[in-house]
Amino acid sequence: MRFLITAGPTREAIDPVRYISNRSSGRMGYALAGAVRHEGHEALLISGPTSLDVPEGVDFISVTTAQQMYEAVQDMVGGVDVAILCAAVADYRPISYSNQKIKKEVERMTLELERTPDILGSMRRVFGFRGVLVGFAAETQNLLAGARNKLEAKGCDMVVANDVSQPGVGFDASTNEVWLVRKGREEKLERDTKHRIALRIVQETLSLIAG
Ligand code: CTP
Repeated sequence: MRFLITAGPTREAIDPVRYISNRSSGRMGYALAGAVRHEGHEALLISGPTSLDVPEGVDFISVTTAQQMYEAVQDMVGGVDVAILCAAVADYRPISYSNQKIKKEVERMTLELERTPDILGSMRRVFGFRGVLVGFAAETQNLLAGARNKLEAKGCDMVVANDVSQPGVGFDASTNEVWLVRKGREEKLERDTKHRIALRIVQETLSLIAG
């Protein structure tokens, strides 16, 4: 089985020295790629900037922006059986890029932003992906409602939901506590290392295929 995994944050440049990004470390996605190898399957990791080592035996594509991640997924999704989209893609990017470093000339300034492409939302509708699709939902409120909505709206087979308002959960932490949300079946995985959580997610994904 061949898995595609997106991981890490994306960076959306403002000028040559500044960008918009988020607190994602990439650890969950890299742990997922390692877990896929551990279970004896092929893994392609498409990642935004992180400071992590690529796990042994994992194919790797490095990207910076949401647009680049979108294009890499679009190019590669054809030969894939399972896609787990774990990246914390920036939802907005600056409308324009300044070729020169912006000087602090005014007291206040407004940065105008536009939406980036929704990779998860494009998997079924734009890319025509027919394999098993797993999305992530990072929420600070109404966790399960948000996850159920994502499951339905984006054609996912499973959504991994984490409440990122809790310390030690989700962004930039080495542990995680998640809900696995499927149609008619919701299960909580108690707090554990991202490596053990990743293994459970991959095993659950494989059981979805077997079932
Ligand atoms: N995602 C994506 N492309 C984007 C934004 C998000 O593929 N441009 C994917 C993430 O990898 C994750 C899922 O969408 O699998 C959920 O992201 P999240 O930020 O929780 O939710 P959004 O879909 O952005 O929705 P909302 O802002 O309403 O919470």
